[in-house]
Amino acid sequence: MDFLEFNDVTFTYPAVEGDLDENGEQIVPKPVFEHFSATLPKGFVSFVGQNGCGKSTLMLLASGRLSPDSGTVTLLGKNPATLDDEQKNLLASVIYQNMEFETEDKVGELLSFVYQNGALKGNAKPVRSTTGADSLLSEVIEVFELTSVLEHQLAKLSKGEIQRVLLAFGILYGSESLFMDEPLFALENYQKEAALAYLKEFVHKTGKSVYISMHELDLTKKYADTVLLFYPNRDMALGTSEEVLTRDEVEKAYGVPYAMLKDHENLSREYLNSLNQKNEAESN
Ligand SMILES: Nc1ncnc2c1ncn2[C@@H]1O[C@H](COP(=O)(O)OP(=O)(O)O)[C@@H](O)[C@H]1O
Ligand SMILES: [Mg+2]
Repeated sequence: MDFLEFNDVTFTYPAVEGDLDENGEQIVPKPVFEHFSATLPKGFVSFVGQNGCGKSTLMLLASGRLSPDSGTVTLLGKNPATLDDEQKNLLASVIYQNMEFETEDKVGELLSFVYQNGALKGNAKPVRSTTGADSLLSEVIEVFELTSVLEHQLAKLSKGEIQRVLLAFGILYGSESLFMDEPLFALENYQKEAALAYLKEFVHKTGKSVYISMHELDLTKKYADTVLLFYPNRDMALGTSEEVLTRDEVEKAYGVPYAMLKDHENLSREYLNSLNQKNEAESN
């Protein structure tokens, strides 16, 4: 079933007053998307592409946090931007890139609050039978390693700890879909893997959808059902990682010769090696 549809969407960020070019003229931003149409499936979908290619903006449009200037966005049959805040949250949760908090509330209290006041009403079975947890709440505390920070104030946590709490909020709120904008970057590698494995299982067990952006092509390849690869010119390729993350497509998306991608800090050496080997095997 198609889950998310963009139909002839055009979107431009508003001009910032006082942003002048070298001639002193007001800078008028170019559209991020212009007559953009696409249909994305449900499931665990990863957005990949270089900085500025539009991943965050697409998530905000998809979740109704931004409205298109023209065209329509349809998420699960609804136009998210027209919903009130609660209906919007129930349809789509968003974990923004770089969220910051001022609250003095403790992590444990906040986790319970989100669980009680979202779609699940504090009543959901764990996703995994293997954790032995008696509720979804205790399961996410275990999976995201939050036991030691439950009594700490959210605002005082490290970036990686905040990211793990946000992942837990996303699961516990229980929206139909979750948009997660680079939610893993401050985590240790083993924590990224644990989070992705759990999110994937969560998606498959609950029928909810997760759209995630991340820089790690190797992890995308390992966990995502579907990849949306963004090219710099706003074209995109959608498919399985085998279909989309080929050497040619990755080069096109990152706009640099393939050999240079080896040194790209955001691309994993392991993944590139595997592509190299594949390429050598094909040319032999
Ligand atoms: N708040 C904003 N105001 C103006 N321009 C923005 C804003 N956010 C993003 N942009 C511009 O929109 C384009 C897409 O950005 P973004 O969606 O953040 O890409 P990504 O998440 O892939 O890095 C870029 O050219 C960026 O500079
Ligand atoms: Mg972004």
